Amino acid sequence: MKITENKGRLSMEEIETSLIYDHGYIPEHVQEMMPKLEEIDRLRNEKNAILLAHYYQIPPIQLIADIKGDSLKLAESAKEIRDKRLVVCSTVVFMAEMVKLLSPDKKVVVPDLESGCSIASGMNGESVRKIREKFPTSAIVSYINTYADTKAEVDAVCTSANAKSVLRNIMGDPVIMIPDYFFFQNMAKELLREGNDGRTYLAYRGKEGGDLVLENVVNGKEEHIRGNGFQLPVLDKGTCIVHEQFNPTDIDYLRKKDGIEIVMAHPEVSPGVAEVSDFVGGTGKMIDYVEKSSAKKFLVITECDLTAPLREAFPKDKYGKEFYTPCILCPYMKKNSIDVLLNSFRYERYEIHLDEKTAAGAKRSLDRMFELTRERK
Ligand code: 13P
Ligand code: SF4
Repeated sequence: MKITENKGRLSMEEIETSLIYDHGYIPEHVQEMMPKLEEIDRLRNEKNAILLAHYYQIPPIQLIADIKGDSLKLAESAKEIRDKRLVVCSTVVFMAEMVKLLSPDKKVVVPDLESGCSIASGMNGESVRKIREKFPTSAIVSYINTYADTKAEVDAVCTSANAKSVLRNIMGDPVIMIPDYFFFQNMAKELLREGNDGRTYLAYRGKEGGDLVLENVVNGKEEHIRGNGFQLPVLDKGTCIVHEQFNPTDIDYLRKKDGIEIVMAHPEVSPGVAEVSDFVGGTGKMIDYVEKSSAKKFLVITECDLTAPLREAFPKDKYGKEFYTPCILCPYMKKNSIDVLLNSFRYERYEIHLDEKTAAGAKRSLDRMFELTRERK
């Protein structure tokens, strides 16, 4: 069994021990948390519920979750939920929507409806339709970090764990990738280094002067879609407010200061940061990388709490591995505190509702993602 494999639900004693020894919480603080975590556990049993949590949740929430993982693992788990009535997603809203799409007969709730995502708000369904009007032969792929109205209009979705397979296997030219600008630049560049298939790869850069701007990944040439007469996305840029903060100079400084052997970065970082990193991969892939690596000191360039599953899976006294991070928090993921999660269980809120047409379109794009990943070339 892999060290990082999910071992199922932890007991309250195991959670308490891990909070103190793996995560360094002070015992008094843990004593305050435990009754609330016990209440979450009681409600989960009483209500026949299951708790899913993303790797960016705070350590106590990751510890009490039935399933924790990256976006792909949460999507795959959602497909397999059988005998539960209620699914509580300690995630951001677009992930809870994804769970609802893949587990449509369950009541799916997210603890805070304000748990957005700067990438997801950088695109909308209407813009996708306008892009398609200009490029009728294109394949349009969106990142999983989009809302259902965007997913409903694209040809396929991808996550950090399967983007290259989806881009490689999808038919159409040009291949248009909407958002994240950095993520798709990094993925398309890697793909083209492995073999150029002669197609044009356009990444959505953002909204500029009322236009949507797509950029050719190879030569930087721009394509503009005039913003007249349709509703543009909420945000100007389709980038992540966490990952865009990292820069190569700081990484270089931290590498030297802490004697780092391996710098691991999420593909949502800028291409400049990806270039100075030793490994670029999504949250799940970083965890797998650590398991295979003999290195001891890692710099983790992503949201701060990815270090939680790493510390748990590879305790320093057993594996000698240490994880450093500049510790930038995602304000959206961090809307989910223990109190907010407890209320979500108590009042079964906030339920995810999707209209039938949007849900059908978005589900088709998610299913296409699974098919294109299976067709792996
Ligand atoms: P992962 O799919 O790698 O977990 O990424 C999700 C995300 O929001 C990263 O910022
Ligand atoms: Fe969105 Fe970035 Fe937060 Fe991930 S870390 S949920 S991409 S804002």
